[in-house]
Amino acid sequence: MKLWGGRFTKEENELVNSFNASLPFDRRFYRQDIRGSMAHVKMLKKQGIISDPDAQAITEGLMSIRRDLDEGTLSFDETSEDIHSFIEAELTKRIGEPGKRLHTGRSRNDQVALDMKLYTRDEIDALMELLTGLLDVILSIADANTDTIMPGFTHLQKAQPITLSHHLMAYFEMFKRDWLRMKSIRERMNTCPLGSGALAGTTYPLDREYTASMLDFDGPTLNSIDGVSDRDYVIELLSAMATVMMHLSRFSEEFIIWNSNEYRFIDLDDAYSTGSSIMPQKKNPDIAELVRGKTGRVYGALTSMLVTMKGLPLAYNKDMQEDKEMFFDAVDTTKNCLKLFTDMLASTRFNKKNMYKSAAGGFTNATDAADYLVGKGVPFRDAHSIVGRLVLLCEKRGIALDELTLEEYRSISPVFDTDVYEAIKLETCVMRRNTIGAPGPEAMKITLELERKWLESTQN
Ligand code: ARG
Repeated sequence: MKLWGGRFTKEENELVNSFNASLPFDRRFYRQDIRGSMAHVKMLKKQGIISDPDAQAITEGLMSIRRDLDEGTLSFDETSEDIHSFIEAELTKRIGEPGKRLHTGRSRNDQVALDMKLYTRDEIDALMELLTGLLDVILSIADANTDTIMPGFTHLQKAQPITLSHHLMAYFEMFKRDWLRMKSIRERMNTCPLGSGALAGTTYPLDREYTASMLDFDGPTLNSIDGVSDRDYVIELLSAMATVMMHLSRFSEEFIIWNSNEYRFIDLDDAYSTGSSIMPQKKNPDIAELVRGKTGRVYGALTSMLVTMKGLPLAYNKDMQEDKEMFFDAVDTTKNCLKLFTDMLASTRFNKKNMYKSAAGGFTNATDAADYLVGKGVPFRDAHSIVGRLVLLCEKRGIALDELTLEEYRSISPVFDTDVYEAIKLETCVMRRNTIGAPGPEAMKITLELERKWLESTQN
């Protein structure tokens, strides 16, 4: 049934109908739509705009529709244009005349704006919870690995020794910012567009504050044109999700590298890897690869939404119906990736020995050897060049800096003494980096404590 049949004379053709329809995807927020309608009706009744018995009939009708949709005993009528038309038609079918009063003082423009906000808010809550779960797993592994030495990289070349704890806490910081971004988007978007009407408000004495507070908004939107045509929060959330995915993708990339035959830093649980149909030896990091791969979809959704909005004159235009499908897909993708990545991380085994061996093999203590010389009064630039020559010597012989004899050290600089071996031990290199944010165990203890406290504070 059409909500706007009155003015029209010609039946549209089927292609036009299906091109125009949004029910196949906006059915996703039937619960939000019904929640909004129930608040609207309660407000209409309080304001004396509709009668008590009508309001009661509508509320009960909406509740029965919601129950039947929840239980799957009512199916969506595929000929309805959108979720709003479907529910209103179904309501009128069930309760008759009063159903036709539901849309008093409302337009689908402010209705869909409300539904999108309610849906977005619910999904932000779900995303924040998933982020908290991931942060918790990262923190636990980091807590247990403050002395697990591994190489830190720049340019994917071994650079300086760090710890697994330190490396993982870098991701903690990223996902913490993601969480904070979600929180601030939620705060900024929390105004209720219902009552904006089609674009110019309504002539009915609506109590918009009342509706807003029933729906847990901070208050009503303050401009009815903006109320129906704002999709900034969709773009903001897409951008925040794109950033989450970028972080997950970088983490995945590292997992893929760490899982490679050359590195063997981690053993992925069988549940998060798959075999090859031809090569029996394979254990592929498919889940990490898929997370990395799916990042593109979320970026695509963000670009699509920015482009959809950029040319739209105020206020509502049907282009805005395109705010849904890719957004929903981006939300689903980000949630699934967060969930899967968290579980994969929690079940991963870290091969501490291989990490240590790798850190020991790559001259990651060369900076510390130079710092050792500086400690003995050699200018840093000279120390840098002396250690460079030592590295060259080691490379020729296929050994590490700590395997050189004292004579060999002294052949390049007489400043070296037996204490050099202690100074360039990987443990020493890490232990001495104790300014805040660095991998030294003292510094890490402080950061881990601060972040644990912060994480706990998000639960209140
Ligand atoms: N299905 C529409 C959407 O998703 C609902 C709003 C329709 N409003 C209108 N004037 N056609 O945007």
